[in-house]
Amino acid sequence: MEKYIINGGNKLYGSVRIQSAKNSVLPILAATVLTDGKVKILNVPQISDLKNMVKILTGLGCKAVFDGNDILIDSSNADCFEIPSALAHELRSSVFLLGSVISRFRSAKIAYPGGCDIGLRPVDLHLTGLKRLGVEITEKNGYILCKCDKLRGNDIMLDCPSVGATENIMLAAVKAEGVTVIRNAAREPEIEDLQNFLNCIGAKVHGAGSGTIRIEGVKTLTGCEYQPIPDRIEAGTFLIAAAMCGGEIVAEGAYPENISSLIHKLRENGCKISINNDKIILENHKRLTSVKTIETQPYPGFPTDLQAQFTALCGVCAGHSIITENLFETRFKYVPELRKMGADITVIGRNAFVRGIERYKGATVIAHDLRGGAALVLAGLSAEGRSEVVDISHINRGYGFLEYKLRNLGADIVRVAV
Ligand code: UD1
Repeated sequence: MEKYIINGGNKLYGSVRIQSAKNSVLPILAATVLTDGKVKILNVPQISDLKNMVKILTGLGCKAVFDGNDILIDSSNADCFEIPSALAHELRSSVFLLGSVISRFRSAKIAYPGGCDIGLRPVDLHLTGLKRLGVEITEKNGYILCKCDKLRGNDIMLDCPSVGATENIMLAAVKAEGVTVIRNAAREPEIEDLQNFLNCIGAKVHGAGSGTIRIEGVKTLTGCEYQPIPDRIEAGTFLIAAAMCGGEIVAEGAYPENISSLIHKLRENGCKISINNDKIILENHKRLTSVKTIETQPYPGFPTDLQAQFTALCGVCAGHSIITENLFETRFKYVPELRKMGADITVIGRNAFVRGIERYKGATVIAHDLRGGAALVLAGLSAEGRSEVVDISHINRGYGFLEYKLRNLGADIVRVAV
């Protein structure tokens, strides 16, 4: 077990390079099972979710070799269609493997996925979509068992634009016979990135980024070298950190248009933000003003993955805010921890009612999930005095070198084994 010790109060100055997107790299890694060609993914983030995904791929018989910041995957000898329960429980994205494993082996067996405990997180839409492609599914003793003779393209309408379900169906459909159309598909930038990767290895996928994705099945796929898009959630987290601590930072290697909802809100708070190609420059030297309301929405709305960090910011803005979490049922678990630091936030159902205080006070808090954990780190950085953020394993899932990057910007934060 590890924790962060933070001495709050330092302003942040300097540049931070944004990692490749966790939520792109994980489904892309799942997609490598579809091909016998060699795939090189450039600049992968150093996060534990990626390491767990690589362990799963290795368990399936794929070869994975790290080459500096890149990873080489060779799935030509993959020979196993079972994803062990211990790893599936570690990683929600293990569920993406259903689509590619069923495509490759005509069978798949996977334990129910894990990941952050932020709500019910059902997989019914994934399974309904796969059934529409001809997969027979049984659920037994905590396992999902899939079988099919052949995958056949079909018209699939999602009840809601689930990111994971859209990606899983894309993966299963790439080598299916005929054409698959996914309607009410999720429009997140990571879906378009998955499409670009799949097309790079020879698939025929069009429309990602819109609500309708068309996949024409192909027989064979090849290898490629691929650079995933930057992580909009990591970029957003650093911008919010600078907004809370004050100072001036440059998030480099970002796609500003992918977090325009956040940039818009931070400007409304009073931050000065300028954009220069792939650089987002945020400057703030004063106490910010609350935005009145904010609601999480599927892309291009405000991302649920920045809700906790933004609520932490609202906690020290002048005025009141109401934050509504529309995607996940229990994504306010960090609020009682923030209250230990003095926050005046009340959660009722899916709404957090925030009355901004002047400043957080250092305290010992527990990171219960990835983004909630990041929010506590930000609160600690801006707080008066010393904070400890305990059990940072969840934070390790999504932020590579977080403390190094923050220290480079002038923060006083260390990782300590306990
Ligand atoms: C992905 C992201 C996660 C992000 C989320 C929403 C990855 C690895 N994770 O998660 O970081 O917070 O998108 O942007 O990319 N739902 C169902 N049935 C299903 C699937 C989903 O009802 O079968 C519901 C969920 O309960 C939730 C909503 O759909 O309310 C959105 O979930 P979804 O988009 O599927 O999120 P994930 O793919 O799990």
